[in-house]
Amino acid sequence: MKVLVATEKPFAKSAVEGIRRIVEEVGYELALLEKYTDKSELLAAVADADALIIRSDKVTAEVVAAAPKLKIVVRAGAGYDNVDLAACTEKGIVVMNTPGQNSNAVAELAIGMMIFMARNQFTPGTGSEIHGKTVGIHAYGNVGRLVGRYGKAMGMNVLAYDPFVADKGVFAADGVTAVDSVEELYVKSDYVSLHIPATEQTKRSIGYDLLSKMPKGATLVNTARKEVIDEEGLARVLEERSDLKYITDIAADSQAALNEKFGKRVFATAKKMGAETGEANVNAGLAAARQIVDFIRNGNRKFQVNK
Ligand code: 3PG
Repeated sequence: MKVLVATEKPFAKSAVEGIRRIVEEVGYELALLEKYTDKSELLAAVADADALIIRSDKVTAEVVAAAPKLKIVVRAGAGYDNVDLAACTEKGIVVMNTPGQNSNAVAELAIGMMIFMARNQFTPGTGSEIHGKTVGIHAYGNVGRLVGRYGKAMGMNVLAYDPFVADKGVFAADGVTAVDSVEELYVKSDYVSLHIPATEQTKRSIGYDLLSKMPKGATLVNTARKEVIDEEGLARVLEERSDLKYITDIAADSQAALNEKFGKRVFATAKKMGAETGEANVNAGLAAARQIVDFIRNGNRKFQVNK
């Protein structure tokens, strides 16, 4: 049984060692493809793989077609918009994620990004404090919930919007105020922290209409996906409202133009770094390896996302 770890953005060494231990302990073989620069390398590497561990690596129909033995793909992380689920399902390949395993790292970055923008990107000048401000959590999943908890610890007023949370008691139990509409979240929040996945419904859903409703001096914090932003709408509102700011962990396609036009009111990390901590790599990577072993040995499909 061959388990391939294919990571254009590699895991920390300790995570790879942990994955190797789990895989080899049960007599499977581990193959590593790290920092690849061309998809042909991935296509060649999957040829004899029975199981695949990835991060944001793209598993397209072409990759699936090149992997005749593949039985399971585990995205070591939360969002699986990089996997062609239909192509996998068609070939009977099980796809899983590892929900919650890297959430803390992303939540810490979101809070850090708020402070970074509140303090002029750590350059001289008078900044502001996040204490006493309102943060609106857009989607209350594993990451959003932690951002809420840390926001409260920093003295922020925490609002949340998530129509998919069935048990509304969760918000009150966390001391968080659930708002009734997405518009209300944007109207009331000095910071909106995005935690929605990239789906057909959410792509380009955050644009002019919502952002223009934000209060004076507000900041949009994106540690989710670039695809959820309507970049033209974002540029338009930044143009009209010189008080608004945008910080993202996933550079926009038009990031260079945004940077040039809006200077320090916008910021993008050089490469997505939300889950880039040793702890998150170990948590997500080892969970992925365990899920593969548990699926192949016991048929456990608990974290399957293409049911
Ligand atoms: C996720 O969906 O888990 C995060 O976006 C992390 O992605 P990464 O593994 O590519 O850093």
